[in-house]
Amino acid sequence: MSTHPMPPSPASRSVRLTGWGRYAPAQVLTNADLERMVDTSDEWIVSRTGIRERRVAAAHETTASMGAVAGLRAIATAGLVPDEIDVIILATLTPDYWMPSTAALVKEAIGNTRATAFDVMAACSGFVYAYATASAYIAAGMARHVLVIGAELLTRFLDYSDRSTCILFGDGAGAVVLSASDEAATPVGIEMTTEPQGAYMIWLPAGGSKSPPSAETIARGEHKIRMEGRETYRFATRTLASTALAAVGRAGLHAGDIDLFIPHQANIRIIEAVAKGLDLPMERMYVNLDRYGNTSAASVPIALAEAVNEGRVKPGDHIVLVAFGAGFTSGAVAMEWTADPARGPIGDAAVRPEDVRVRLPVDWDSVDPIPPALAEVLGRPVVPGVELPLDDVVPGEPAHAHSSTR
Ligand code: UT7
Repeated sequence: MSTHPMPPSPASRSVRLTGWGRYAPAQVLTNADLERMVDTSDEWIVSRTGIRERRVAAAHETTASMGAVAGLRAIATAGLVPDEIDVIILATLTPDYWMPSTAALVKEAIGNTRATAFDVMAACSGFVYAYATASAYIAAGMARHVLVIGAELLTRFLDYSDRSTCILFGDGAGAVVLSASDEAATPVGIEMTTEPQGAYMIWLPAGGSKSPPSAETIARGEHKIRMEGRETYRFATRTLASTALAAVGRAGLHAGDIDLFIPHQANIRIIEAVAKGLDLPMERMYVNLDRYGNTSAASVPIALAEAVNEGRVKPGDHIVLVAFGAGFTSGAVAMEWTADPARGPIGDAAVRPEDVRVRLPVDWDSVDPIPPALAEVLGRPVVPGVELPLDDVVPGEPAHAHSSTR
């Protein structure tokens, strides 16, 4: 099924991206670490995927806590305060709970009292779907400022004995603020596709209504992500370029007009295939999967925030956000960049991860969330990173972690 959002009519308000932010947990899981867990090698992982390391959330972190940090940074970058946000839309396939929504937890954690908050589930395409939803809210006059978050804690849903999946994924969060503007509309095009014949190519079998959680589903290992890698790869290479091109066309642009593609960070070979399919050099493709692996719905907004903060995007540039994932789904947004890139570091500096808390019920405590295979990795001291100094200010688990967040 393909949706065909119309470009904003002259009567509807124009939509501008005004804020961006990202958060990645401090602890790093390297290919060398994975070599000690499964029958794999750094050489295989780098040559087949391009991934060198990924981040792992600490015991006190959750999808909501990471999403709240990225969200607050995006709000600060936009020059807003949290209560100016009208709608919070959070894309994830790894929510803190089945209910309430993770967006509701984020709303409280960021100190917002006004917003409507809900989650979007479209797997790795989730952030683009959430972006499209936010854009429609604003164009329809239903909201002025919308916070769109992609946040994932995938390392708690991986089978660390399955070398075909556990090497791929990592944790993190990214966010943007979309705002209504009275200025003239800039080019924008959105495309989304859903192909349910791929429904069981990436899936997590148990825990839902078809197979509720039980000792048996746990024993069968059905609460972990399963994937048919080759089929997913074929879908990605078939779809990413066509979805991106459809969005570019809807914006009234051509592929050659695009200054930077910010694709879902799943596999460097997939990104290279897209560049080839679009007849564009790799310099037009933003890549950071070597440092984060695949962070699903968080991958595009983390990459966007880093691309802007690294000076790869300037006002007037045309960029494309494009993703694919379980469902099978795909989604792309083509747009003109209008914000001042210099604001990114301001947002990052305004929010310290250790100041953000997600409330727990007073009469409940979770069991240890850390997969046994990752206990050793998470127990060692954090090596301060050079590329993300703001995320590495908390070495290990803070002392207050057990009282507030888990
Ligand atoms: O967000 C969407 C998420 N999913 C994706 O993006 C996944 C898309 N797919 C892919 O990225 C690739 O298919 C993978 C990276 C998952 C796998 O790469 P591939 O080139 O398609 O490898 P393959 O599945 O065809 O496997 C080739 C060989 C197999 O051995 P045999 O049967 O040829 O003896 C696998 O058992 O590589 C083996 N293999 C590994 N070897 C070392 C699979 N995983 C590993 C591993 N280390 N980690």
